[in-house]
Amino acid sequence: MIITKEEEMMLNGERGEGVQKAMEIIVALGKIYGAKNLIKIESAHISGVSYKNLGDEGLEFLEEIANTGVKVSVKTTLNPAGIDLDFWETLGFKRDFAEKQIKIIKAYEKMGVKTTCTCTPYLTENKPKLGKHVAWGESSAIIYVNSVLGARTNRESGISALASAITGRTANYGLHLDENRLADYKINVKCEVKGISDFGALGYLIGKKIGNKIPYIIGVKSASLDELKALGAAMAASGAIGLFHIEGITPETNMKKMIKENAEEIEITSLKEAYETLNSDVKDIDLVSIGCPHTSINEITEIARLIRGRKIKTELWITTSRYLYNEAKKLGLIDVINEAGGKVIRDTCIIVAPIEDLGFKTLATNSGKMALLAPLHSKVKVRFGNLNQCIKAALEGEWIDN
Ligand code: F3S
Repeated sequence: MIITKEEEMMLNGERGEGVQKAMEIIVALGKIYGAKNLIKIESAHISGVSYKNLGDEGLEFLEEIANTGVKVSVKTTLNPAGIDLDFWETLGFKRDFAEKQIKIIKAYEKMGVKTTCTCTPYLTENKPKLGKHVAWGESSAIIYVNSVLGARTNRESGISALASAITGRTANYGLHLDENRLADYKINVKCEVKGISDFGALGYLIGKKIGNKIPYIIGVKSASLDELKALGAAMAASGAIGLFHIEGITPETNMKKMIKENAEEIEITSLKEAYETLNSDVKDIDLVSIGCPHTSINEITEIARLIRGRKIKTELWITTSRYLYNEAKKLGLIDVINEAGGKVIRDTCIIVAPIEDLGFKTLATNSGKMALLAPLHSKVKVRFGNLNQCIKAALEGEWIDN
């Protein structure tokens, strides 16, 4: 692998011990994946932030790195943490967990990372442009940045994204290369797909069918950015997909042919299987969760419209970034939701927060990714449906099918 003079200096320790260690990781990855060189990145996004996932070992590791004095060299944002950093106590999270979580955030902050704590950094201050190289962790963000924005990243881990953030480099392989961005499968969608939950259901089915390959979707005539966000998140969770194309919608399909000659074709004629698999038969709902991935301002606006002037009977948690929370606050949306009894929560999400400690047993969501992961990570039974059904569940305290 060819490396530049500057990269060699980093590798030799001439830029400090922290940079050296980070460069060793990048070079090792490059060798494993047969990269010919390293490339400069525009930004990084780091997953692996919640104390629930990192534990004491992860915390010690991050503090050790931060104490070397090393800093990130490109714009770097952070995935959700395990708590709302301001309102953790009111929400019922334990002090010991919160204190350790705050130490993790402080270690990242010391390294110069923006403590955004969101899985939708592309809706805030980290929105890479078409064709730019980045190094991102968080499967839902990776697939969005590759597919919807047309920037380029591999599916980075927390560690490799941090190493890239420090060195400003990533190894040039995988989805950074033109030839690896062509679709392996043509997915012919022959049923109606409308709204966030339908797109999540479709994503779930595609991920299940093609694993870690790249789909080229036809038959979907329009999709909002929120629907694309839901589609990708579910696909990346049920499979390990890092990039999808939708004919005429995602940017690269308007530039050139993005599908292999020998691509196999799969038809999807119904979303029923996804709704059946992702639903349990519970009726009473303890918690309605909207915001996986973190909600956009449009989603918050729609929720506020649906509950304005009404009172909910169960817990309603809307998870979003601090950045969009502030925007929603200015628009008066947070007050509307709070008055109805709902909570808009920043910095965290149901999956990475220790919600099993809070006694919730059943959950309703419009997110395919959440419906898939919550039973495994948060030990709850799930109802999965559209936003109207979820809001109705919050207002009634129980799931009503239609
Ligand atoms: Fe984001 Fe948490 Fe879902 S990190 S994509 S809200 S599982």
